[in-house]
Amino acid sequence: MTSTRSKAPQKASLATLAGLFPFLKPYKRQFLLAGMALLVAACATLAVPYAFKQMIDLGFGAAGAKSAEHIDLYFIALFAVACVLAVATAARFYMVSWLGERVTADIRTAVYSHVVAQSPQFFETAQTGEVLSRLTTDTTLIQAIVGTSISMALRNVLLFVGGLAMLFVTSVKLSSIILIMLLVVVLPIVLFGRRVRKLSRDSQDRIADASALAGEILNAMPTVQAFTHEKIEANRFGSSVESAFKTAVQRIRARASLTLIAILLVFGAIVFVLWMGAHAVVQGTMTGGELGQFILYATIVAGAIGALSEVLGEAQRAAGATERLLELLAADSPVQSPAQPKPLPPRTEAGAALRLADVRFHYPSRPQTEALSNLSVAIAAGETVAIVGPSGAGKTTLFQLLLRFYDPQHGLITLDGVDIRQLDLHTLRNAIGIVPQDTIIFSANAIDNIRYGRADATDAEVIAAAKMAAAHEFIAKLPEGYQSFLGERGVRLSGGQRQRIAIARALLKNPPLLLLDEATSALDAESERLVQSALEAAMVGRTTLVIAHRLATVQRADRILVMEHGHVVETGTHASLVAQGGLYASLAALQFSQD
Ligand SMILES: Nc1ncnc2c1ncn2[C@@H]1O[C@H](COP(=O)(O)OP(=O)(O)OP(=O)(O)O)[C@@H](O)[C@H]1O
Ligand SMILES: [Mg+2]
Repeated sequence: MTSTRSKAPQKASLATLAGLFPFLKPYKRQFLLAGMALLVAACATLAVPYAFKQMIDLGFGAAGAKSAEHIDLYFIALFAVACVLAVATAARFYMVSWLGERVTADIRTAVYSHVVAQSPQFFETAQTGEVLSRLTTDTTLIQAIVGTSISMALRNVLLFVGGLAMLFVTSVKLSSIILIMLLVVVLPIVLFGRRVRKLSRDSQDRIADASALAGEILNAMPTVQAFTHEKIEANRFGSSVESAFKTAVQRIRARASLTLIAILLVFGAIVFVLWMGAHAVVQGTMTGGELGQFILYATIVAGAIGALSEVLGEAQRAAGATERLLELLAADSPVQSPAQPKPLPPRTEAGAALRLADVRFHYPSRPQTEALSNLSVAIAAGETVAIVGPSGAGKTTLFQLLLRFYDPQHGLITLDGVDIRQLDLHTLRNAIGIVPQDTIIFSANAIDNIRYGRADATDAEVIAAAKMAAAHEFIAKLPEGYQSFLGERGVRLSGGQRQRIAIARALLKNPPLLLLDEATSALDAESERLVQSALEAAMVGRTTLVIAHRLATVQRADRILVMEHGHVVETGTHASLVAQGGLYASLAALQFSQD
């Protein structure tokens, strides 16, 4: 998929809209009802001018004994038509708007569920902001087309055809004249209206630009202030707002001219036809009621033309939106569960066994550089293995492959003897608990943040996990304890506290394989000692891989893997590796001299 969203007017063909069909199909009954209401409303609208004429000619015009009777009858008839029109219009509005909202909700859900199932590779190329804008802006365009435009189109086609027929029934001569007038009046208004709409879209885009800018900056306030960029950012936003204002002024100017032209032309035409009609009435070739009827039909036809042109523009935009959404729905995640997944062997007392054989991997965005090259490791069930190595050695990448966020280009990874590509993704990931390098805290309270590890955990289990992760004490001291809201992205916590929440979350899951990516890097010595002893307790009965920069964390591991440039360069215990005098020894020397 493309990485930037084009803001140019979309030239997608209207046929793209057919892609919406699967979303409309479940609601056939509602469409039928809406169609019926639409038909009734259109007929009632077309009946109004006729009823009007009857009322004028027979109600007002005819003098004598019958007049009062007629007045009652025709006024009642007119009111009845109005009642039908009111009910049918309200029903149509309800049905059609309901459809619009329903279909949009379905599309939003479908797109979102599809997007959250994508592998990280998808999010490397697609910007989350773009996905968001598709979910909101594009679906709103579709809501407009399903919720109003389709019914507007049908209604106005009916009104146009019906109205035109009735015009000719009323007066062939005047109709021929008015047909020409319609072209002269409606065409410029329609063309000019298009321009106004394009300008108003531009000005919406400008506003979206400004708010995207503001959003990014507001999320980075501490950095902005620390670098004293407040003024620069304010100016940047200011000029962005100014540019939105300039576009808006263009739109307002065009809109004002449009109003001027429209009123002049429409009234000019009406006055002209009235003038011709008045002569016809005086000459006796037409009744006053017929003239009234004629003018009303002409208004209906003109309105229908205007509305249809608007609908066409909307449909064009919705086609563009549909195209982008369908594209998003068509994106296939490169990492998929197999059609016939294999089960994992039953969990053992010790934990899971892991093996990597000759794994070679490069990130899709960096085909030239291998992040892992010829990596072969065997880890026995229950082992605690520390992974150390310089920054960029590929440690985090290894974890990503174990979770199958990416598949290696070459080689094999097995969990308890099963190729992880043959496991259902959920089976694999449920067997793994991870504390990532960058802890993620959701804007929720403490208990829900920990419960993210296992949705069905009881409060007692959550608290037990928090105690294990040395998080219970500080959570209990928060204003509302476990119910305390942790702020957006956990801003109300310190880095170390965030990390302990993340550890509690992973422990709550109680997985046979635990992956810790510098899980204690943000902790002070005291909390680290606490978490460390908790983790040691937690490591019982499972296999644990610990990535650590601090050698103090590493020393207790059963085995240490030293990684550099994407493969294991040394392996052994702390003592044996120091004795070897290789990379580990030099890392250890550096680290201990600093401590
Ligand atoms: N999503 C990505 N796309 C492309 N390259 C990446 C991506 N993530 C990491 N890399 C690159 O892969 C290499 C290994 O990165 P990795 O994150 O595994 O390092 P690390 O050993 O965990 O380092 P650190 O100790 O700093 O966390 C680096 O050169 C990095 O720039
Ligand atoms: Mg890393």
